[in-house]
Amino acid sequence: MLFGRLTAALNRLRLAMTVAVHPASPITEPAAKRMRLSPEMEGPQPAAIGTTVFPKPPNDSTASLATASTDSSPQPKKKKSRRSPKAGDWSIVPTSEQEVASAAACEETMSLPFELERSYAHELVYSNKLVLAPMVRSGVLPARLLSLYYGAGLVWTPEIVDKAIIGAQRSVDPETGIVTYHKGQGAIWTTHPIEKPFVIFQIGSSDPKLAAEAAKVVEQDVSGIDLNCGCPKPFSTHSGMGAALLSTPDLLLDILRSVLRAVDVPVSCKIRLLAGQQDTRHLASRILRTGVRNLTVHCRTRDMRPRERAIWDRLRDIVELGERRGVNVICNGDGEGAVNWEKIKEETGASSAMLARSAENNPSVFRPEGPVDNLTQVVPRLLNIAEYTKCSWGSIKFLLMQYRPSPPPLSTISRARRKELNEVLSRAKSVEELAENLKIELGQGKTLFDELDAKLRARPEWAVWEASRAGSEVVDPKPAEVQEAQAEEGNVLLAAAA
Ligand SMILES: Cc1cc2nc3c(=O)[nH]c(=O)nc-3n(C[C@H](O)[C@H](O)[C@H](O)COP(=O)(O)O)c2cc1C
Repeated sequence: MLFGRLTAALNRLRLAMTVAVHPASPITEPAAKRMRLSPEMEGPQPAAIGTTVFPKPPNDSTASLATASTDSSPQPKKKKSRRSPKAGDWSIVPTSEQEVASAAACEETMSLPFELERSYAHELVYSNKLVLAPMVRSGVLPARLLSLYYGAGLVWTPEIVDKAIIGAQRSVDPETGIVTYHKGQGAIWTTHPIEKPFVIFQIGSSDPKLAAEAAKVVEQDVSGIDLNCGCPKPFSTHSGMGAALLSTPDLLLDILRSVLRAVDVPVSCKIRLLAGQQDTRHLASRILRTGVRNLTVHCRTRDMRPRERAIWDRLRDIVELGERRGVNVICNGDGEGAVNWEKIKEETGASSAMLARSAENNPSVFRPEGPVDNLTQVVPRLLNIAEYTKCSWGSIKFLLMQYRPSPPPLSTISRARRKELNEVLSRAKSVEELAENLKIELGQGKTLFDELDAKLRARPEWAVWEASRAGSEVVDPKPAEVQEAQAEEGNVLLAAAA
């Protein structure tokens, strides 16, 4: 009895001590949050196309159509660590001398005229759209086409570094019309004329001259050029590209000016929030003045992790600057399609939202009616487009690994069946093998292309684009030495492209 009481008292004491030192207690929580704010790479490992650093190949043993929730074995419960922004996380009102100076400089910039006033034969409409974000590895041609099929208004290509695309040769597949930029065997970027009115090519650069040269290489196949100023990954920032440009705004602006002067398609820019709100406004005002047609803001700072909630309410200020200039501003961060588009509009004032991970998990999030089931509807389309576009199995497998199971009532398959499907995916060595094992009929690629073609032609943008190119001269912007090399090779595909 006495022993029982003693044990109970000891247990109470132990419990009290645990509460006092537990990380969730009020004393230690801020410290824990500070630790979470350390820099982290954005999204999965980089980065196949056109970058010099390559990603880890997908690990077969972890391949999954629906990683997390498909495994029926008990999983350790993950701590939910998305935190809401709180007052004090940033300063809305200028508090420091620096912020006061930035606020004044912003107003001064806003009072100045545009640096470069350009008009384009084909003006891109960036407003009132759900658009596909640039995503290294996940933004390959079949993924962009599927996004367009499901209703994406515009699609960004994954970042390609300037030097990677400069000097690339352009070839056209006479059967499918697919355009490939390549150096020797390695394809650097692949596109199809069907996506041209909607596709924006994103460049990674820290050099105005190289950025302009890179933009010229692909100009004939795209409707816009975008400069990546938001990627926080070391492979981008170590050479002064991506988010590093946020710390060198003069260089950032010089790159934009150089690209703006070089190409005859609209130019845009994608940034992240800076730590200070007034500094962000000032940077935005300078970018908006250059003559860019759109500014996309990823509503996270460079140091924020992808799982931390995007700070939408910081965007309203920037959207207002855009409105004063007549330049569109797109909201990026935590967009989920029709489900929260209205909320984004309400909270930010931005009419367009750019989707990255939600579209990576299920490209049909662009549907106004909401997504369809990944497994039964999206996967068969993806495999058929992959077969038709001759996309590599590695890329397709990577895409499939990002797909998440559609919740009921979209999907009603059992956990056991999901597990089985994951195994089928991890064992498969080709699109054909996977299609056979999933009992998906291939050979529908052309039909899907025709369906997509009809859908896209029905959009108002198509008519604008057709009108703008009517009578326009076809120019070949390839550098002279590339043209010579092509002539020497006598490449049939290249000849077909000419
Ligand atoms: C796999 C992956 C690759 C990415 N690659 C790029 C890129 O090439 N260029 C870029 O500007 N942002 C890139 N991002 C960032 C996204 O475009 C987007 O800004 C970010 O994921 C936030 O949007 P979300 O909350 O909708 O995911 C990438 C993100 C992911 C997940």
